[in-house]
Amino acid sequence: MDERAISQQQNAIRQDIIRQRRSLSHNDIQRRSLQIAQQVQQLDEFQNAETLALYLSVRGEVDTQALIDIAHANKKRVVVPKVQDTKLCFYRYDEDALQKGRFGILEPSSTKAFELSDIDIILMPLVAFDNNGHRIGMGGGYYDTTLAAYQNAHTPFRLGLGYAFQHKPLIKHHEWDINLHAIATENKIHRIKNDRKR
Ligand SMILES: Nc1ncnc2c1ncn2[C@@H]1O[C@H](COP(=O)(O)OP(=O)(O)OP(=O)(O)O)[C@@H](O)[C@H]1O
Ligand SMILES: [Mg+2]
Repeated sequence: MDERAISQQQNAIRQDIIRQRRSLSHNDIQRRSLQIAQQVQQLDEFQNAETLALYLSVRGEVDTQALIDIAHANKKRVVVPKVQDTKLCFYRYDEDALQKGRFGILEPSSTKAFELSDIDIILMPLVAFDNNGHRIGMGGGYYDTTLAAYQNAHTPFRLGLGYAFQHKPLIKHHEWDINLHAIATENKIHRIKNDRKR
């Protein structure tokens, strides 16, 4: 399968699932997000993490507010991404110092960036995921590009947050697609076999 055919398959899945995600009601998102937060809390990698990277949810994505509150209650440091050129940089989360960035997503206004090697676990949004931990995002390649540099160095545990309907058995992937170590959904954690090999 050539790169174009892979992109076409990914785009078809992306459009289909984004449509489904947008049809969720606010209450439905909140209910499911709390279930997902409960699953995440069971993970050793979450419990042991001192510094967590989280995202600020938009447009039907799994809501991360409960996890941010839990992390803070447990004295963990929370950092959130800001788009810089083609990459994400991570800054300490401060709810009183956020500003709208690209795509209308709230971003931290702090200027002290954290290195990815300082981050123990990175929780990321996804549009779709498969049995091997391959992930489709919104199509910007931001997570792929950001994580690419850390494939051989100290790499944070990569956890995707998604609804069960975002699971597809097998997604064709590009060379540059970075896979997930685990995915948390409403009713279970999908742990990927041979995880943390890179
Ligand atoms: N490591 C990389 N180096 C250079 N370009 C990259 C890299 N990773 C991704 N890209 C570019 O980003 C574009 C989008 O990638 P892709 O379709 O995998 O996005 P995505 O995984 O859905 O998005 P995201 O990671 O932002 O959630 C690709 O067409 C590719 O050109
Ligand atoms: Mg990708």
